[in-house]
This record gives sequence, structure tokens and C-alpha cells, in this order.
Amino acid sequence: MNLPHRPRRLRRTPALRRMLSETTLSPADFIAPLFIVHGNDISNPIASMPGVAQLSVDRAVAESSKIAALGIPAVLLFGLPATKDAVGQENFADDGIIQQAVRAIKAAVPELVVITDVCLCEYTDHGHCGVLDGEEILNDETLEILQRVAVSHAAAGADVVAPSGMMDSMVVAIRDALDGDGHEQVSILSYAVKYASGFYGPFRDAADGAPAFGDRRSHQMDTANVREAIREVLLDVDEGADMIMVKPALSYLDVIRQTREICSLPIVAYNVSGEYSMVKAAAVSGWLDERTVTMEILTSIKRAGADLIITYHAADACRWLAEN
Ligand code: PBG
Repeated sequence: MNLPHRPRRLRRTPALRRMLSETTLSPADFIAPLFIVHGNDISNPIASMPGVAQLSVDRAVAESSKIAALGIPAVLLFGLPATKDAVGQENFADDGIIQQAVRAIKAAVPELVVITDVCLCEYTDHGHCGVLDGEEILNDETLEILQRVAVSHAAAGADVVAPSGMMDSMVVAIRDALDGDGHEQVSILSYAVKYASGFYGPFRDAADGAPAFGDRRSHQMDTANVREAIREVLLDVDEGADMIMVKPALSYLDVIRQTREICSLPIVAYNVSGEYSMVKAAAVSGWLDERTVTMEILTSIKRAGADLIITYHAADACRWLAEN
């Protein structure tokens, strides 16, 4: 029988497969998240995220050096303040936990890109992403706080600020404040498309930022919607975002793909805490092979159209890539 099409010819050997691979991962694709706490020589493991810990600034500096040595270009910092209040004063304090961490990391590892999370939820006693009036989040009053936070992170030396609160017009407000304070060179990575997701569960332990009442559905998006995601992306591009984030990643690969098709800015996908913890839990039970599944997930996020992936697997993935 003379079969005309034999796609298996090209899968015959490892060399053929390697040269025909359409999607490749490299350490330069990853951004490593870090959780920073006050104190010295502290590493508090996060029970729901095996392999991830809250670190004091000195430990975060050491970890950042290791991350840079693996070839990972950037870290994303989340801070846990000493005290919380209704607006989150430490969020924009000169000696706040993130401001200290940014200065220390930039001094020790200047080549590493430092990205900071800009949101209220880890700093407010109510755990919401904005200033409250009763149970309502006030959009425009919150923008004023976000402006102060972004400027103080920039003044500490942050390369990129990443507003994650899904407030309307947060990008243009932050751009305006940064430029007004001489930080034209600091870029904005906007969480343009962030869904109200159950996959943030473990993160809320890690960053101690669960809302005291209610949920985040008045600002984060409905899982069911993708046209609305496109609208959010177009608005943030228009407001002057430098990079666009889609979050979470794994249940939203179609959203990453559609964003890629309409947006020429770099797209960053956040492989979130719950996606990480599911793999870890299955791996310790012996139900999945951690390395195979992790590399499959990361490759699929890149294949969907992401340029960069924020992932708690970053360091492991680099070690596995180096063994290949
Ligand atoms: C809010 C923020 C959250 C995450 C990143 N920034 C939590 C939330 O919106 O409730 C989640 C990240 C993850 O799950 O890994 N500042």
C-alpha cells in the first residue's frame, strides 16, 4: 500500500523531534514570585505551597541571587506588612517591607528585573483590594492610593510595577503619577485580565490577603467571559500599559490565545498558586510525574501565546531544562 502521508517520519528520532519543536522554553521565559516578611533570617514554609516560603529581606536577597544565576530575568515581589489598617499605610511607606526589599535586591543583584505587586489587599485589615465605603470598594479613591504605592516602589528602584486590583483606569492613573514624579522609565505590567478564581486559594495563605467578608467579583472578571477580556486588554493598551497580564493561566489558555491575536504588547501569563499546588499535591501522592506535568503545563502556556510566565515552578523548571 502506498500511503502518501506519514507524519510519524518526522517524529522518528530525538534529533528530528528537537529540531521540529514549535515551542521551546528557556529560563528567560520565567518570572519568579517572592513573598517578603519583616524580620531577619526568616523562611516560613507555606503549607499549601510546598517548596515556597515567606522570606525576610536578607533571605530574599540570597534567593534572588540564586534565581539570577539560573538565568531567570525577573522576580515579582509581594509584601506582608507589620500591621494592617483600613487603607494600608505601609503600602506606600518609605521603609515599607517592599520598599526595603526592592532596595536590597537591586543593590545586591542589579541585573535582575524587579517587579512589584501594586494592590491594597495584603495591606488592608479588611483584605479588600480598595478603599471601602461600607461593603463597597470605591474605585477612584483607591486609584489615589495605588498612585502613591506605585511612586514609592519606583522611588525604591522597582523596574516594573504590576497593579493587580482590577480597578478601572488604574493604568492611566499610575502612568500619570509615575511620570509626574520623574519615573518615566518605570514600566507598567497591567493585570488587565484577572478572573475571580478559586485557584488563588493557596496564595491567600502565602500573602495573608483573604477578604474578611464577601469576595472579589465586583472587580475581578467572570470565568465565563472572553469578549469582556478583550475589552479590558484594549482599554489597558489605550491607557499606556507596557505589558499585559492574563491570570490565571491554565484554565484560560483560550484567553491568552485571543489576547495574543489582538495585542502586540508582551503578554505575561500567571501560572497561579492553585495551579502549582495541584501539581505538587498529585506528585507527593505519586499520581502524576511532577517534572513531566510541570513542563507540559509551562509549554502549553507558552504555546497559547504567552511571552513570559510567572510561575512558582520557575527554579525547578530551569534545573530540568539544564538537564535536557
Ligand atoms: C492580589 C493578588 C492575588 C494574586 C496575585 N495578586 C490574589 C487575589 O487576587 O486574591 C494571586 C496569585 C496566585 O494565586 O498565585 N494582590
